[in-house]
Amino acid sequence: MSTLRRVLINKEIDCKPVWFMRQAGRYLPEFRKIRSKNPDFIKLCLNSDLSSEITLQPIKRYNLDSAIIFSDILMIPYALGQKVAFSNGMGPKLSKLNYEKFIDIKKENFLNNLKPTYEAISKVRKNLNKEKSLIAFTGAPWTLLVYMLSIDKTNKTTLSNFKVNNIELILEKIVEFILYHIESQVKAGADVIQIFDSWAGLLPKKDLDEFCFQPNLKIVNFCKRKGIPVICFPKGIKESYLDFNKIIKPNGLNLDYEIDPNWAKENLIGVSLQGGMDPKILLEDETKIISNAKKYLDIFKNIPYIFNLGHGILPSTDPIKVEKLINFVRKNY
Ligand code: CP3
Repeated sequence: MSTLRRVLINKEIDCKPVWFMRQAGRYLPEFRKIRSKNPDFIKLCLNSDLSSEITLQPIKRYNLDSAIIFSDILMIPYALGQKVAFSNGMGPKLSKLNYEKFIDIKKENFLNNLKPTYEAISKVRKNLNKEKSLIAFTGAPWTLLVYMLSIDKTNKTTLSNFKVNNIELILEKIVEFILYHIESQVKAGADVIQIFDSWAGLLPKKDLDEFCFQPNLKIVNFCKRKGIPVICFPKGIKESYLDFNKIIKPNGLNLDYEIDPNWAKENLIGVSLQGGMDPKILLEDETKIISNAKKYLDIFKNIPYIFNLGHGILPSTDPIKVEKLINFVRKNY
């Protein structure tokens, strides 16, 4: 069994696996080299030779405990018929959701649009040693909605009015298609799922249950029925991590960098923990990086813990520092 699954399923505390969110990305020169020749990001994700090669880049460089398939959470809106553009520095931009077209899309068409991702997963699995996991992922329904409806993330007034017509139906449809996507990724060879609810922190507390907890619960229960361990990442919900854990009961919870690790250890019971360290720390000098990593690893020494960060690796991170951090974790824990 992979080290990741030993921590997530068996709750082992004597191994501390390491992987990073955005481990395959712009901080790696070998990624930038491929990216510079492939200006269309969506097309790159849909090129199974290149996306499987990119997935394996950080594994070759660092021998990490897990690969995560190179794709994006916005491939779901893309496969549901929205145009997705990544303009430099502006964040992703999606075309307006066409409700009639969206509600009518068929499972076969959706899965056909994402076929290269499933092929890439099979290719990666063939080249990955059994000790290592291959993580597949999805955006959580709320976080996908934020992009699909272009909800203004900075404007509280628009945020309180996000409930457009048919929002329940839209949400239901998104959940249905997320489950198809997870099922196909598992069939192709993924053995752990991570659910990114990157914008959960935007939700007012009164809406957390309807838009974050319940949709995450449906996905987690589906993964449990399939026997596949699942890690949730409800970024930014602060002390509501407590209710999230009690209600959803995932195998793993990824801490964001605002969560106090001592608080997490005392309050988040019965779940394996992952991550937490601020990715900005990796921009500091080596002593600071190591002392921060040590803090997390010492606090979580006697509980099942996967070393990772509190959000994705920043593009300006020095790959040598990442290597030193991994060596430190491997040598001491
Ligand atoms: O983690 C990995 O290495 C696997 C691949 C992966 C990507 N995106 C590749 C990517 C994963 C797991 C994601 C998830 C994702 N995508 C999330 C959830 C995690 C998080 O960061 O909160 C979100 C919100 C997105 C949406 C997205 N995709 C944004 C906002 C952007 C542009 C800004 C940014 O952070 O780069 C992307 C593009 C993207 N996805 C890149 C990569 C490597 C950069 C594309 C480039 O090379 O220009």
